[in-house]
Amino acid sequence: MNRQEKVYTPLGLYVHVPFCATKCDYCAFYKERPSRQNLERYICALLREIQSIGDERTFDTVYFGGGTPGILLPRAIDQIAEILHTRMHKIPLEWTVEIAPNTVSVEKLQHWKAIGVNRISMGIQSFNETTLRTLGRQQTPRQIFHAYELVRSLDFTNVGIDLIFSAPGQTSEQLLNDLSLAIALDPEHISTYCLTYEDDTILKNKLGDGAEENRDRDFYETVCEFLEIHGYGQYEISNFCKKGYASLHNRNTWLMGEWIGVGPSASSQYRGLRYTNIASLDRWAREIENNAPERTDVIKLDKKILAIDEIIFGLRMNEGIDLGKNIFCQKISPFVDDLEAQGLLRRGEQRICLTGKGRLLCDAIAQEIFNTLE
Ligand SMILES: C[S@@+](CC[C@H](N)C(=O)[O-])C[C@H]1O[C@@H](n2cnc3c(N)ncnc32)[C@H](O)[C@@H]1O
Ligand code: SF4
Repeated sequence: MNRQEKVYTPLGLYVHVPFCATKCDYCAFYKERPSRQNLERYICALLREIQSIGDERTFDTVYFGGGTPGILLPRAIDQIAEILHTRMHKIPLEWTVEIAPNTVSVEKLQHWKAIGVNRISMGIQSFNETTLRTLGRQQTPRQIFHAYELVRSLDFTNVGIDLIFSAPGQTSEQLLNDLSLAIALDPEHISTYCLTYEDDTILKNKLGDGAEENRDRDFYETVCEFLEIHGYGQYEISNFCKKGYASLHNRNTWLMGEWIGVGPSASSQYRGLRYTNIASLDRWAREIENNAPERTDVIKLDKKILAIDEIIFGLRMNEGIDLGKNIFCQKISPFVDDLEAQGLLRRGEQRICLTGKGRLLCDAIAQEIFNTLE
């Protein structure tokens, strides 16, 4: 390669929209009440933060997550788009917006579509009224179907849905029913998360750590088998899709690419650093107004950190990792042999990946690799 040529590194943009109309009992993501004052302050600071990005590259992927970005009003959507369009040379390959079924409207969807959004991610969680209530999720099955229909009626051709399984009291019949209704919608992408009891959530305060490991594992196996049979290939521990619809944005982060996060509590991995914006609308906005954004959890990325994370995140993906290219290839070789002997890992010519059985123990395996290499 000519020495002058630069290696092209994809760049993602993550926009955290920290507002939810109602708060779900299980959720620990940073969020605020969507008062008019909060929203105005947020938009002003966000526009400034986006404008301050000093990078010539365009964004290959853009992801509006939350919170519920779907809550933004058309005027706010247009304001953000105006800044982004001057900053991007072309519409990104993938531009996702997370929406919740109870805050969707045709007008908002039309605006998202008009500015270039080409992927919708809808938080469904469950179609079962009892499960929704247990999760403290303020939406009805009717709202879910209506919202999904609206999205499709506007010709969004790449739609993902999120489900949560193993809520307290959920039976295997209810899980299968959720999965059947999910595939009946025919989305391009399905994310399924085992319910986690996060600290400082209503759910944990009410039930403590209510996780039931055996049931979680059985349900996870059911999810994987069901989705595979119905044409949704697994490509990551919690992610399944029809062929060609893996999330490009998320894949870039798992492959240790670069992304810039804007908005309170957003994380970035950029120019050799990993860091997080302060998780407070008030402080974040004040710092942006004073041109002095405070970054927390700053980590200087060296070869060692990136190589460890490449293994840990790589093993979460079905494509696995090219261990030969990793600086820790020799060091973890005995561990890899051991996992292979136990049927938890498969070795291809070039790559290694976890087997279905291995994926059930992914977190424990990751922890052991981390302990070995740290
Ligand atoms: C960042 S959240 C935002 C999505 C959007 N706010 C919504 O709820 O519709 C993305 C997904 O994470 C999952 N999630 C959040 N908290 C969880 C928890 N405690 N356990 C399992 N999944 C969780 C939910 O499936 C949710 O849709
Ligand atoms: S799950 Fe989504 S809608 Fe519910 S509180 Fe969390 S971010 Fe908000």
